[in-house]
Amino acid sequence: MDFSTRAIHAGQGADPTTGATIVPIYQTSTYTQRAVGENQGYDYSRTVNPTRTALETQLAALEEAEYGSAFASGMAATAAVLNVLSAGDHVVVSDDLYGGTYRLFSKVLSRYGLTFSFVDLSDLDAVARSIRPNTKLFWIETPTNPLLKLVDIAAVSALRPPGAIVVVDNTFASPYFQSPLALGADVVVHSTTKYIGGHSDVVGGAALTNDAALHDTIKFHQNAVGGVPGPMDAWLTMRGAKTLAIRMREHEANARRVAAFLEGRDDVARVYYPGLASHPQHALALRQMRGFGGMLSFTLRGPDARAREFVRHTKLFSLAESLGGVESLISIPASMTHGSIPAAERALRGITDGLVRLSVGIEGVNDLIADLAQALDVTLEHATV
Ligand SMILES: Cc1ncc(COP(=O)(O)O)c(C=O)c1O
Repeated sequence: MDFSTRAIHAGQGADPTTGATIVPIYQTSTYTQRAVGENQGYDYSRTVNPTRTALETQLAALEEAEYGSAFASGMAATAAVLNVLSAGDHVVVSDDLYGGTYRLFSKVLSRYGLTFSFVDLSDLDAVARSIRPNTKLFWIETPTNPLLKLVDIAAVSALRPPGAIVVVDNTFASPYFQSPLALGADVVVHSTTKYIGGHSDVVGGAALTNDAALHDTIKFHQNAVGGVPGPMDAWLTMRGAKTLAIRMREHEANARRVAAFLEGRDDVARVYYPGLASHPQHALALRQMRGFGGMLSFTLRGPDARAREFVRHTKLFSLAESLGGVESLISIPASMTHGSIPAAERALRGITDGLVRLSVGIEGVNDLIADLAQALDVTLEHATV
């Protein structure tokens, strides 16, 4: 079935007890049993809840996966997937990735006997060189946050040694524009807080796979560790996801226009957007993605201080962390989303203090461009064109 049909119908049949057309918010922690050991498939809501099950079915359908697990946040989903590993295992990770993922890997999981190599996964020779006998997992973010670099999912998956798995954080592209499982990945992770929820009103995460054994392990940890979303959050996420397709089309159309506008300004130094012909991996984007998404980054001409000044002057673009909501957001990754990466590491990766990131919303695009234009003009005196 078509993407939008799945988004609106998968897991969302009429409620069996009342006929309610919309899945109810089963706000219950427990379930009354007929007799000891005799229940209706539900015993305790950390383990299973009908509203969460509906969301898990919907999200699995969007990624064309057999199995889905929903979590309280994207980080909880990431941690649950990493739980498939054991002390002594080695992980190969994108060197450009969400700062919170970097923090979890380098500051938390490294204390549990896992080792991580942060590698430019767009360099396949570097990927091959980083593989060790104990490499068990490849963690890919593509497009990356915040530099919008791409990783060739099929090529990295082909390098995976036997017994190792490939996990793709598909948050930026969303399942509407990219299908990592079809390209050879074993698990897809989402921060559903972003495009899937789509309205900046709920935090959540998900892990989707076609591998029954992997799913069993992830489910086991979902229950054993307990990072599950409440029924209200599951319901809000499901409601948001119903309109993912139309929102993504609008995000992308607006982002393309904004990227072209920025690239056309003399006082903008560089624009990072996979949809631009100037993006070094534009050809890979055309091959691997069905669209380029709504995220872009750029640097201004002039000192880094100009960027800080610039983000103070936008009126429609709110200065805020996060992304993927219907409203436009602007941020300075080095001091906001990626502040947990040490300054020296950030500099090495090109995440400068002058890098500005946009989450282009679905407002009228002419209003968005006018907003950016006036903020650029206000700070023009700092530009060294
Ligand atoms: C690409 C990416 N992955 C994962 C996360 C973490 O998700 P959450 O904030 O829902 O825990 C984020 C959050 O910004 C993100 O941008």
